[in-house]
Amino acid sequence: MKSIVILVSGRGSNMEAIVRADIPGARIAAVISNRPDAAGLSFAAARGIHTVALDHKAFADRAAFDAALAEAIDAFEPDLVVLAGFMRVLTDDFVRRYDGRLLNIHPSLLPSFPGLHTHRRALEAGVRLHGATVHFVTPTLDCGPIVLQAAVSVRPGDDEAALAARVLEQEHRIYPQAVRWFVDGRLRLDAAGRVMVDGGEFSAPAAVVPAIDEVMS
Ligand code: GAR
Repeated sequence: MKSIVILVSGRGSNMEAIVRADIPGARIAAVISNRPDAAGLSFAAARGIHTVALDHKAFADRAAFDAALAEAIDAFEPDLVVLAGFMRVLTDDFVRRYDGRLLNIHPSLLPSFPGLHTHRRALEAGVRLHGATVHFVTPTLDCGPIVLQAAVSVRPGDDEAALAARVLEQEHRIYPQAVRWFVDGRLRLDAAGRVMVDGGEFSAPAAVVPAIDEVMS
């Protein structure tokens, strides 16, 4: 059994998708939030999953919060830590502690649009393809070796909400998939920090692209 701790800050729909995927060989040991009122905590608690609320506002600085967060996480001895809408910049020490076992999902096709308001910025830039990325976390925000991406076409008349909804649907597909690979021992970082799937570089499909008819419709 691989033990997983999931960190959320809000709605928690990606966490929910991972929990609902019921991945064989995986145990969701805990869901931890930096916001005590995060909706995601209620879902997890209702499923009988341990929940921890660690309010970042109660800590003097980022380093103090991250140290407490690491202590809370380590109590569950996780094999994998999953950031699922965890909206905190993490210290280098924290990221290094979970080297090779810390995943994040970001709502853009990285390296385009790191940071916030990705859908608005994609519309403003006029990109034709947008999407989501699962990646291993490195100290630079929304950076790090890419595991899996899903692309959606930007449609005429799309607004931020419509585009966000289509991207979120893809997030809910690719994040459980990446976690499944990790749990199955098919996904890891090698010593040089490259993503290896099934023991090779790019030896498994690492991209999901919509059918061309969606682009043409
Ligand atoms: C998701 O769209 C996720 O990709 C994004 O926050 C949302 C959380 O939704 N994460 C980031 O922007 C990280 N930089 P959720 O709480 O329903 O999973």
